Amino acid sequence: MPWLLPRRIASGGERLLDRFLAELGERLSDPATDRNALVREVLAQVLYGAGFEELLERAPIAALALDPAHVTFEAEYYAATDQEKFQRVKPLLWLWKTLDLTPLGQSVASGVKIRATLAPFIFKRVGKNPKFFQNVEFSVGYNLELGDDVVVHRHVLLDDIGGITLMDRVSLADYVNVYSHTHDLREQADVTLKHTVLGTGVRVTYHATVLAGVRIGDDAMVATMSVVTKDVPPHAVVMGIPARVTRVKERPDCPYCTRGEPHPAERIPRMPPRKGNPDFPELRPPGSGVRLPDSRE
Ligand SMILES: CC(C)(COP(=O)(O)OP(=O)(O)OC[C@H]1O[C@@H](n2cnc3c(N)ncnc32)[C@H](O)[C@@H]1OP(=O)(O)O)[C@@H](O)C(=O)NCCC(=O)NCCS
Repeated sequence: MPWLLPRRIASGGERLLDRFLAELGERLSDPATDRNALVREVLAQVLYGAGFEELLERAPIAALALDPAHVTFEAEYYAATDQEKFQRVKPLLWLWKTLDLTPLGQSVASGVKIRATLAPFIFKRVGKNPKFFQNVEFSVGYNLELGDDVVVHRHVLLDDIGGITLMDRVSLADYVNVYSHTHDLREQADVTLKHTVLGTGVRVTYHATVLAGVRIGDDAMVATMSVVTKDVPPHAVVMGIPARVTRVKERPDCPYCTRGEPHPAERIPRMPPRKGNPDFPELRPPGSGVRLPDSRE
């Protein structure tokens, strides 16, 4: 028996939703579309059953809070953010986040479809069948690459400011955090951006954290609550803080292992770390502080 069972909503609702999403996708594919205007109009309809202009007359504060031009995101305050790229995706991130707060976003049937429609217009690359559950957070969105059949569960944080690649069939469980930036130990404003890669079929289980610049090998698994601070080899299971390899999955039919070839995640070129703040241009070894003799006990 498959683990996931097919579920449908009543056909009238499904047709209405599919039409709404087809129109949304069409409008977004048109480079002439004013994304701020589109998003505030959609949100006014979904939240208040009104046109944006009408809502502006009746309840201006409620209306303005729907307009991406009248809100800011944390990423807009960062020196490392590419403002041009961010302004392009910002309205859609606002639509994603705000719809998550509505019944449409909370229902799996509609929420997953809405996010799959928006994903190709936000992320750097999107494979087939992206599946996002509710309350997922991104830093900038434009630096996230997804392979095919990636699944991201509730309350995941994808800090993609330095770049995150989730290869085919990656699965992130509830409350997972994946980072791509780090701060110097002594100078908080000295930020380094590091590309983080999760290989094909990687499973990160609930509440685990992956630090910036880590590469998790194909088919590896991160145990719950772990903090992954270093690269993980393919097929490994890592546990604890810091995460260490405690077992390796038996995969006698793995073609890469039998041929002695690099696995797909190992073929992705390594990007050197980049500096995120022009005031600190030099790449320097991370400050490790003075380790106290008994600090590991
Ligand atoms: C990876 C995982 C499956 C390991 O489970 P397991 O192989 O059954 O491990 P065991 O329960 O036999 O534990 C083996 C040892 O590892 C320890 N351990 C298990 N999980 C651990 C974790 N997350 N962190 C640290 N240590 C862990 C156990 O305490 C035990 O230690 P001991 O030998 O000193 O007693 C499990 O930790 C996990 O993360 N489960 C998440 C659930 C899941 O699959 N989620 C899917 C996505 S929703």
